[in-house]
Amino acid sequence: MSVLNLGPELTVPVEEIVGQCVAILGIRGSGKSNTAGVIFEELLAAHCPLSLVDTDGEYFGLKEKYEVLVVGGGDHADVELNMTTVGEVADLSLHEGVPVILDVSDMLGAEREAVVYDFLSRLWTHAGRLRTPYMIGIEECHEFIPQGVRTRLKDVIARIALRGRKRGLGAVVISQRSAKVEKDVLTQAGMLFLHRVVHEADMRVYGELLPWRKTEAKEIVSQLEVGECIFMAGSAARKVTIRVRHTFHGGYTPSFRPVESPKLRQVRGRILEALARARDGEPPLFDALPTPGSRTCPASPIAERGAQPAVPSAVGLLSEEISPRAAILPEPIVLRVERLLRRLRRLPPVQRRVVAFLVAHEPDGYATHELAAWVDCPEALLHVEPPQAALDVGLVACERLARGLTYRGTVRQYVERAFSGFIPGLGPDGPRRLVAYLRQRISDLAPVECDLAHLP
Ligand SMILES: Nc1ncnc2c1ncn2[C@@H]1O[C@H](COP(=O)(O)OP(=O)(O)OP(=O)(O)O)[C@@H](O)[C@H]1O
Ligand SMILES: [Mg+2]
Repeated sequence: MSVLNLGPELTVPVEEIVGQCVAILGIRGSGKSNTAGVIFEELLAAHCPLSLVDTDGEYFGLKEKYEVLVVGGGDHADVELNMTTVGEVADLSLHEGVPVILDVSDMLGAEREAVVYDFLSRLWTHAGRLRTPYMIGIEECHEFIPQGVRTRLKDVIARIALRGRKRGLGAVVISQRSAKVEKDVLTQAGMLFLHRVVHEADMRVYGELLPWRKTEAKEIVSQLEVGECIFMAGSAARKVTIRVRHTFHGGYTPSFRPVESPKLRQVRGRILEALARARDGEPPLFDALPTPGSRTCPASPIAERGAQPAVPSAVGLLSEEISPRAAILPEPIVLRVERLLRRLRRLPPVQRRVVAFLVAHEPDGYATHELAAWVDCPEALLHVEPPQAALDVGLVACERLARGLTYRGTVRQYVERAFSGFIPGLGPDGPRRLVAYLRQRISDLAPVECDLAHLP
């Protein structure tokens, strides 16, 4: 189990943070962004996919150590941000686990709100199907979830914060204006980092959140130093010190001492190329990647960098060699298929044979006794150990018919559901190619002799 090291006396199991609503509050300069930066560093090190809405352009320093795509207008952006690319970026981040910083520091008012809304609502919708762990950080959240005002952006953030867990989504909301943040979100937060506040209104909010007497809370909170906070998980609260970020903090307090510019990692060229095409109004992201008849698939980033990724890629995105047949489909899809195959390879051999057989013979249905004969295993074993993982994923379906439990492959439906975000960019025969490719790769996992004499 991965543990996040947040301070000398503060470690948190990753499972306790992912899918949670985490609130970081405190006055200006109290250390909120450093705390958030530490949490994001640790999540990246634990390979948890994430994105964060950066209102001050201060998180790019994460690129010192991690491969993070910065999308926005600041000096450190890899890609410009606009209404065309924002949805593509959200898809890329969620489906492929590419960590993203959405730098909205040079946008104001309605434009900023529209971009953030598009990004988050796309994540929300697609997370409903994917149900994969994913964290979203939001700086200056009082701007987006103000108390007492209702906007479509506030609705989507509140949904993520309050109901995201079942979709795997969690939020880290950060604000220097505790009293201006929607109360429902703060009171429902499963984890709080309460840095120093001084204003009476903010202190009242802390008084409601902390399990201490109000006078006691006020005394402790008003004495907190920079980087110290009250950490609260569940109903237990204690004072802690947060460590300093390992990576460059773009929001450091300037002084007369010179500050060395950080060396930042570059994201993979093909992601940038595809996003740049979307930005220029050329065909969407996944069309920009090779298809049959166009150029051949350039060397994958794995080949460019050697067998092991040079940096921890979130969710091990590029950790395996890709089949040459992958060249017929856009790379993000192929990577996703590889992830699925890795999961199926972990199944016991009999179950692998069952799944491979059903998928190769889709849409035909097979009763358990027929299936047992085809895959050469006792029928009782199929009753005791049904191909649960494949049923859960939706690659295989099971119905109770007159002839008993009947299984069949459902790759076509799986593709429609799991790859729906990619389908529009795949071209007219894209879904058919994808179904064929997936069936072939799954069948290859455990070839089954199709000897009709086996059947009773
Ligand atoms: N845990 C810490 N230990 C030492 N220094 C810290 C710590 N946290 C923050 N600092 C320093 O304090 C200054 C302010 O920190 P930070 O930018 O995190 O504050 P903030 O609360 O986000 O401020 P703002 O509200 O203005 O965004 C920075 O120079 C930072 O390096
Ligand atoms: Mg800050």
